[in-house]
Amino acid sequence: MCGIVGYIGPRNVKDVVVGGLAKLEYRGYDSSGIAAIDDGRIELAKSVGRLSNLEARLEEHPIGGHVAIGHTRWATHGKPSDENAHPHQDCSGRFALVHNGIVENYLSLREELIASGHEFRSETDTEVVVHLIEELYNGDLFQTMIAVGKRIRGAYALVVISKDHPDQIVAVRKASPMIIGLGDGENFVASDIPAVLQYTRDIYVMEDGEMAVLTRDSVECFTLDGEPVAKEVYKVTWDAVSAERGGYPHFMLKEIHEQPKAIRDTLRGRVNPDLGSVTLDELGIDAETVKAMDRIHIVACGTSWHAGLVGKVAIEQLARIPVNVEIASEYRYSNPIATPNTLVIAITQSGETADTLAAMREMKARGLRVLAITNVVGSSAAREADNVIVTWAGPEIAVASTKAYTTQLAALYLLAVHFAQVRGEIGEQAAHDMINALDNLPQVAEAVLDTAPQIHAFAQKYAESKDTFFIGRGIDYAVSLEGALKLKEISYIHAEAYAAGELKHGTLALITEGVPVVAIAMQPDLYEKTVSNIVEVKARGAFVLGLTWVGNEDLAKTVDEVIYLPKTHPTLAPLAAVIPLQLLAYYAAVARGNDVDKPRNLAKSVTVE
Ligand code: G6P
Repeated sequence: MCGIVGYIGPRNVKDVVVGGLAKLEYRGYDSSGIAAIDDGRIELAKSVGRLSNLEARLEEHPIGGHVAIGHTRWATHGKPSDENAHPHQDCSGRFALVHNGIVENYLSLREELIASGHEFRSETDTEVVVHLIEELYNGDLFQTMIAVGKRIRGAYALVVISKDHPDQIVAVRKASPMIIGLGDGENFVASDIPAVLQYTRDIYVMEDGEMAVLTRDSVECFTLDGEPVAKEVYKVTWDAVSAERGGYPHFMLKEIHEQPKAIRDTLRGRVNPDLGSVTLDELGIDAETVKAMDRIHIVACGTSWHAGLVGKVAIEQLARIPVNVEIASEYRYSNPIATPNTLVIAITQSGETADTLAAMREMKARGLRVLAITNVVGSSAAREADNVIVTWAGPEIAVASTKAYTTQLAALYLLAVHFAQVRGEIGEQAAHDMINALDNLPQVAEAVLDTAPQIHAFAQKYAESKDTFFIGRGIDYAVSLEGALKLKEISYIHAEAYAAGELKHGTLALITEGVPVVAIAMQPDLYEKTVSNIVEVKARGAFVLGLTWVGNEDLAKTVDEVIYLPKTHPTLAPLAAVIPLQLLAYYAAVARGNDVDKPRNLAKSVTVE
């Protein structure tokens, strides 16, 4: 977790670093800080809480110079506080360091360094690294960082400056993400591209196990042993404005409304209604391998895991391949049962989630093929997987994932149809119907957005509820899990999702007068059974909001309020049903005065296990 920015060049360092950190706040916002070399000294400013606190501090005590590093923190070791905020310094004040990741052997190093006279000011794992730099320093910062790398274990992106070397920044990457922005007479280093996009589109993506030395006029990259590495420049083609709010009060609302386009972009060139086929050339898995596949393990976290649950139903129903959907942090340690013909699918918006990457690496080490479904082209997941399907959602900034989820569903549907066609599990007419329905999904999403005023009104009424339940059967249950998660994440209302038929086996005890229940009834086959379960909650006094397809007037007889959604293929219905659930969470959070884009305790990309 955490976001890092470093800059060397003629601009105002505070503007570049603080501006860059603002683009990285999605990586954590427990505290922030900046260190710059000014007049031969290291000047430091840091503050607990949002970046605005740091900015206020910098108003009172401005920082100058031409080389600086900054950090926005998501606390792991040590509470959010001024002391624990980065950058950290050694005893003599010669070095300043920012870090993203976890130093796993920090306790033993700390004891060792204390024994040799170092005084610690924070509770962080990071501080051991800067004292270690001081301890091992031999007059050459680059060589010292090679030596430091040999002593620390764990995941880290480190950026260090020294007042002895006011003309350089040294950056080291092991496991945690890092990019370098290439300028003219200036250079940048950051955890992610949006931090530097305002200044440059020429990027070096640092690979795992690489380090770099930046001066104003040069960037040299090396292995962790100091062997030179030749890098290719990656040209960023996406637009900086697309990462801004675009007139919406929150990124989340903007991203909800971007879904028709994001889905269209993800399907573009991949569905051919005329040919009745799906084209996934970039997948790179040959027909023989697809036919031999005997099981699929989907691994992911959070919302991406929920997408996997929908994907399971789609792949099993269409391609008839058994699918397990596993939480990445559990899967890795579960000694999973896999055959040589098992495909592992890792779903990850960011491509940087440590738990998902760890699960991928574990299965790759066992010789299994890993396919990544990710939204970030140059991410670790994309680079490490054998095969990749990119979702074209564009940068997702709000912590609560929306367009990433729906584009993940689109990608999983494409995969399910592709596998079904290659394996001969789907007839021509069924394939044709499915492909037409897929092609129509952007229009479906567009039409669903029209339900926003109705959802808004409902959310206003129920924003003060203590609990909310989401129920559905089959694939509707999979999507109800995502509805409950969204509500919890940003409105902080306790929410639970239940397979509608399971409610009576325990949780029905919690349904009392006026408790809101959101019932998803988008599956014609399961419709009557679902209605029976709705009747059960109605009988206990629940207030039921029902979601069903346009034309199904029957549901209105049972529930208190109905949201009508465009009719699509039942397997694709989650993509329509989730949007009102996202809007419900959004409007409830706004009504409660919450910080929608930055919910408490959460971060967009969790790069620690
Ligand atoms: C964090 C985010 C979630 C996200 C999860 C997985 O917990 O807050 O919104 O679903 O990570 O992220 P990924 O980038 O791997 O999809």
